[in-house]
Amino acid sequence: MKTKVGFTRIIILSALLTAGISIMLSAGTNALEEPQYENMAGKEIFLLACANCHGPDGKGQPQSRVGFDVPLPDFTDCDFTSREPAPDFVSVAHQGGPVRGFEQLMPAFGNVLSIEEITRAVKYVKAFCTDSNWPDGELNLPRAIFTEKAYPEDEAVLTFGANEDFDNISGEFVYEQRFGSRNQIEIVIPFGWSEMTVPNGVKPATDWTSNLGDLAVGVKRTLFHSLDKGSIFSAAAEVIMPTGDEAQGFGKGTFVFEPFLSYGQILPADFFLHSQLGAEFPAQGDKAETEAFFRLALGRTFTTGGWWGRAWSPMIELLASGELESGSNIFWDIVPQIQVTLNTRQHIMFNIGVRIPGNFSSSRDIQVMAYLLWDWFDGGFLEGW
Ligand code: HEC
Repeated sequence: MKTKVGFTRIIILSALLTAGISIMLSAGTNALEEPQYENMAGKEIFLLACANCHGPDGKGQPQSRVGFDVPLPDFTDCDFTSREPAPDFVSVAHQGGPVRGFEQLMPAFGNVLSIEEITRAVKYVKAFCTDSNWPDGELNLPRAIFTEKAYPEDEAVLTFGANEDFDNISGEFVYEQRFGSRNQIEIVIPFGWSEMTVPNGVKPATDWTSNLGDLAVGVKRTLFHSLDKGSIFSAAAEVIMPTGDEAQGFGKGTFVFEPFLSYGQILPADFFLHSQLGAEFPAQGDKAETEAFFRLALGRTFTTGGWWGRAWSPMIELLASGELESGSNIFWDIVPQIQVTLNTRQHIMFNIGVRIPGNFSSSRDIQVMAYLLWDWFDGGFLEGW
């Protein structure tokens, strides 16, 4: 009797066990199938596809957990996350790290996730930065040659300009560094070379003089920014010091105070616009005139090799300046130009253009202009090619 009951129990137990195992096995095969990302929110996609490495909190899993020593970004750090445009993050997640010169360890999800799904996950990633003081990187529009941007930058720019005869070459080194969420300091070091002219007006073939111009330091602060509106607006003030050689035409010989306003706007169809309005007030009125200037740049960005490929941004600038005195002349110029990203990371850029005088052209030269820009926060000059 005892054994009989025991036997029934064993049969029931083993039946339950078999059922249990088969349920577990079928659940197991389900787990091996691709998750259905289609209807998932960005958060769920992130937790399933990204959090293994990036951590559910976006700070990056420890090295002991991921098993590699490439540092993972901390997405909660606004100084990192806010300044990267969402389309760049989407490119990296779709194509893998190497598309922007990063490690292969950042996998490509293009075969598993659609652009829309990645975009939702990236929106969740961007929201790890919860401080809305930081202007979004999408407002960091391509830099024109003359019109100063409203976006606070970490960059170094070397600009050259030469007249038609190439007997007068001027240059400028600009260093910009952000501090805090909305501020930036700027140092400008102008320099130049010109072919010497002896008093009788004859140019000796080989004599060139090189000179330092008037050094400038400035601060800029973003007063308003909104990614929804696509707008950014900043105010800045610069002090220009009389370090240049006035006699050689490389300086004004007086301190000059230059306040200005800058505005950037994203327009439909990948168009964008910058404008800048400012004035120059010399400390000694007999050395230089009080002048006002207005600059406008309109451009559009195109990409080659897929939308994550090289970015080309043709622009046209309009420059106007004149003395702040009624009846004085207004000088204006147009500057067609094209900016191109040189490397895969897209943080080294080149721009070439021509400054064409719109009026008084007999006394003003056409100039060929070019700059090399290095967005140094994104990596060393030789990184990400
Ligand atoms: C196997 C681990 C792993 C997974 C899974 C992973 N990542 Fe990454 N990710 C990395 C590594 C490693 C880096 C850093 C690469 C570097 O700095 O070279 C990185 C960097 C990034 C960056 C920063 C790029 C930049 O501009 O610096 C973004 C954005 C990113 N990942 C998004 C995602 C998203 C979105 C997902 C999920 C769809 C994801 N990652 C899944 C490993 C991973």
